[in-house]
Amino acid sequence: MKNKILLISIMIMVLLPSILLGKNHIEKIKVIPEPKSVKVLNGSFRLSSNCKIKISTTSLTALSDYLNSQIKHHFKVDVASNRQSKNCIELIITSKSKLDTEAYELRIERNKVQIIASGNEGVFYGIQSLMQIGCSQFEDNQNVIDLPCCVIKDKPRFSWRGFMLDESRHFFGKEKVKQLIDLMAFHKLNRFHWHLTDAPGWRIEIKKYPKLTSVGGKGCHSNPDAPVTFYTQEEISEIIEYAKERFIVIIPEIDMPGHATAAVKAYPEYSGGGSKKHPEFTFNPGKEETYNFLEDILLEVAELFPSEWMHIGMDEVHFGNKQWATLPDVKQLMVQNDIKDLKGVEKYFAHRMDSIVKSMGKITTGWDEIVEHQLPSNKTLIMWWRHDKPEIMTEALKREYKTVLCPRIPCYLDFVQHDSHTIGRRWKGDFVTLEKVYEYPILSNKIKRKQVKNIVGLQANMWTEQIKNEKQLDYMIFPRLSAFAESAWTKTKNKSYDNFIDKMSWMYRFYRSQGLYYFNIIDPDKSPEFVDQRVNR
Ligand code: ACM
Repeated sequence: MKNKILLISIMIMVLLPSILLGKNHIEKIKVIPEPKSVKVLNGSFRLSSNCKIKISTTSLTALSDYLNSQIKHHFKVDVASNRQSKNCIELIITSKSKLDTEAYELRIERNKVQIIASGNEGVFYGIQSLMQIGCSQFEDNQNVIDLPCCVIKDKPRFSWRGFMLDESRHFFGKEKVKQLIDLMAFHKLNRFHWHLTDAPGWRIEIKKYPKLTSVGGKGCHSNPDAPVTFYTQEEISEIIEYAKERFIVIIPEIDMPGHATAAVKAYPEYSGGGSKKHPEFTFNPGKEETYNFLEDILLEVAELFPSEWMHIGMDEVHFGNKQWATLPDVKQLMVQNDIKDLKGVEKYFAHRMDSIVKSMGKITTGWDEIVEHQLPSNKTLIMWWRHDKPEIMTEALKREYKTVLCPRIPCYLDFVQHDSHTIGRRWKGDFVTLEKVYEYPILSNKIKRKQVKNIVGLQANMWTEQIKNEKQLDYMIFPRLSAFAESAWTKTKNKSYDNFIDKMSWMYRFYRSQGLYYFNIIDPDKSPEFVDQRVNR
């Protein structure tokens, strides 16, 4: 008898938690990037065609449609048709709470889900978290998804959570860009920096100068004879609109005065020459006509892109500016303006272009070389990329430039991600592992608190010299973009690499469902086999 009682007591003790909590109780919500706070509750909300979406104001109509399309896309469930249901997902904008623009609260209860924010942006991020919770629970061939009850309160660490794509070296096209924009949104990234011009190809239609694309759009990094590829202005507008619906701002980059080879191939009259390794690399900074030409181009770009920021490159000019010293126009410019050396010419060029950009009401944005040119700090954004020059970042912050951190290591996704890999760059043998991306930024405590405020965010940069096709592109981006998203959104105290790796189990399944290729760091043998590092080179 005693034994029987003991056995029953043990059984109750073992079974009680699952009886009380429900059989689908889970311990952890696996959202990437990790939210600010998460409380898991008992029970679950059943997402099925028996649910409906309710909105607190008509300004949420487009987001309600978006949520519906996302539920259909991820779970093959149509929630729109059922008007009678008690189970609803409520999108709520409230002026009562003091939520920041991008902040949201997500409450999953047994018979309702609420996403509460101060505006559409916050609601959008709440939707992303909801979709991720669903995806982390969802296995194929289900027609109901049980979403664990929880309360999430969330807001980002940084306002700039960027991703850059270089489409000059290799061109991927509208559908791929839209897919990447969707994946950015899924990870709560909000700035798409589009590197549209460089030495191998000019990829944006400029109506006043059609040869920029008909001549400059021919070729790519791996094949100078590749057919012409570029985006028409109409396609660009379509992509901008697509991104805007996902709260992503697109920042165009027209690289100058270096990396100009494709442009001066089309219009050699503006060439400032180059070097043996980088022929015809620059624009001619001594000619007034060059500034008129560039102003015309930027005018069309500014009209097309609503972005506050206009990126004018300004990187690596020294690769090919030696011929400037021999050009009569440049010599004359130096005499007239008392300029002593080519650095001074570069500075002159930077200031001329800065006033053109400012006349269009935009913020001049450039790679960290522009710190040397002393542009006005209140209307200039710096992208710090030279990881081997930390003093440039410190200088930028000290001079109160708003600064985006995107150092090669660990923010360049064209770097090798595993020692065994052969496609991708290295820097003195060093490369960019998933963990390095995840742990970034580790800021030196020499940077003063006041200066840290000038760091507006982080950016992952995808250069494409070595990236020839979509599979290789995906393989370099994923899973590092997932780790990067957590670096850009989540405060250090809420981050844990072990927890991140644990969360990735469903993310790999998600990548596969989206037809993406990726490197499986946990189990390299399970990486998609056809991205053999020796193939496609
Ligand atoms: C750069 O990587 N040249 C900005």
